[in-house]
Amino acid sequence: MALYSEKVMDHFRNPRNVGVIEDANGVGEVGNAKCGDIMKMYLKIKDDVVEDVKFETFGCGSAIASSSMATEMIKGQPLSEVRKLTNKAVTEALDGLPAHKLHCSVLAEEAIQAALADYEKRKTED
Ligand code: FES
Repeated sequence: MALYSEKVMDHFRNPRNVGVIEDANGVGEVGNAKCGDIMKMYLKIKDDVVEDVKFETFGCGSAIASSSMATEMIKGQPLSEVRKLTNKAVTEALDGLPAHKLHCSVLAEEAIQAALADYEKRKTED
């Protein structure tokens, strides 16, 4: 069996939603101290729905594939659904990741939750 699924390879080679949202209202950056990879997530939220999402990942192929898939999963979704997104769901959507690469999908979950927390914080400050 190949180490990486076709979906992982596809999202690694053609990542969706790469970039920056200049007027994002939720931004989250997380990193993994062990491997040194960093992920930054930008959310544009309107009426409690993710209108747009983009990411920048300075990391391995699995981290890029995980962030790409995660952005696809939350785009257009209400925040109630986005809050429930887990790295397990991202991994399943990618048809699996090797065990030693599961932490890469955790980074995607954490980056989205951090961006969400930033959004909530900004909202209460307004
Ligand atoms: Fe650390 Fe992939 S090796 S995020």
